[in-house]
Amino acid sequence: MNITQDAQVRSARPEDIPGIQKLLNHYAKLGDLLPRTKQDLANNLEHFLLIEEKQTVIACGSLEHFTPELAEIRSLMVAPDIKGRGLGRRIVEQLIGIAKERNVGRLMALTYVPEFFHNLGFRTVTKEIFPEKVWGICVNCYKFENCDEIAVLLELNQAKS
Ligand SMILES: CC(C)(COP(=O)(O)OP(=O)(O)OC[C@H]1O[C@@H](n2cnc3c(N)ncnc32)[C@H](O)[C@@H]1OP(=O)(O)O)[C@@H](O)C(=O)NCCC(=O)NCCS
Repeated sequence: MNITQDAQVRSARPEDIPGIQKLLNHYAKLGDLLPRTKQDLANNLEHFLLIEEKQTVIACGSLEHFTPELAEIRSLMVAPDIKGRGLGRRIVEQLIGIAKERNVGRLMALTYVPEFFHNLGFRTVTKEIFPEKVWGICVNCYKFENCDEIAVLLELNQAKS
């Protein structure tokens, strides 16, 4: 199978939680992504898209709202052995499509790979323009005092015009 072209992106289901968490734990140990509990994943499962191969989650990402007009791409990841084959792009493009359908004006992410997001039309911005994120979520994060993640933003209203 040509993974990049043939694999279907689909919504996550409860039985996907262990696979999502396994991949997330891998990147959390490396410090690339924030760990999330099974309960947190279960609470947000409806926001996840994923690609599976042979009943294994090989790519996923979620679209989570702060407000109706501000949403974040979270827990975006591709299995380590198949990075760089377009799966991350496919997940993000579908999440952007969903955000547009919902009339999200601003789509943001915190990341160590801003270049990946720049390729998809995002630009680097200062985190302080997202007080909803900083004081709602980051404040509870172990990295809060010394966060070195980079904020990226895609303005969808502008992208449409
Ligand atoms: C970041 C990640 C999701 C990208 O997914 P991917 O499938 O490897 O990337 P893609 O193959 O879809 O790449 C799309 C484009 O971005 C570029 N790109 C991908 N990763 C990049 C990186 N680390 N630095 C710079 N450019 C990158 C690719 O070259 C490609 O460019 P092109 O379209 O001009 O050829 C994946 O590498 C990953 O899981 N990384 C570890 C977890 C992580 O950091 N997630 C991001 C959290 S916000």
